[in-house]
Amino acid sequence: MAYARRIIVDPDPILHKVAKKVTTLELKMPLTQQLIDDMFETMYAAPGIGLAAPQVGIGKRIIVVHVGEDGGPYAVINPVLTDFDGEETAAEGCLSIPGKVGDVVRALRCTVAGLDRKGKKLTLTAEGLLARCFQHEVDHLDGVLITDKATNIRDAVPVEAAQAAAESP
Ligand code: NI
Repeated sequence: MAYARRIIVDPDPILHKVAKKVTTLELKMPLTQQLIDDMFETMYAAPGIGLAAPQVGIGKRIIVVHVGEDGGPYAVINPVLTDFDGEETAAEGCLSIPGKVGDVVRALRCTVAGLDRKGKKLTLTAEGLLARCFQHEVDHLDGVLITDKATNIRDAVPVEAAQAAAESP
């Protein structure tokens, strides 16, 4: 069974801390596997398109992402981003900053390397919303929120709120 956990909302110190790497031994533990299941459940229940472990109060380098048909579901452990290419500015929300959106510049494409939930090496190339979502979630692991880098942070207006809710990592 998977359970939706409480999402930590800013301000909370855990959202601003650098999360710790997960060891392969730790990854195999039932507790960690349950955490990953629960992170998916929490993200879908929100609803959102991505979630990082610190957002449920766990300071570990684990993210889950699912941006639609061709964009997941992915669980990436100890994700590292490389090969940034292009640039795009778009309005972005965050489940830990409810009701707000801001314009964030992100690379249009990037490569994500890390481990899957079974500890196997994983490399993905991502573009557009998927790439944006990976960048947003890896920022969470480094204690960085959209409020640290967004311009024009504003209340999400209803139409934007609906979209931000649908697209909130
Ligand atoms: Ni977020």
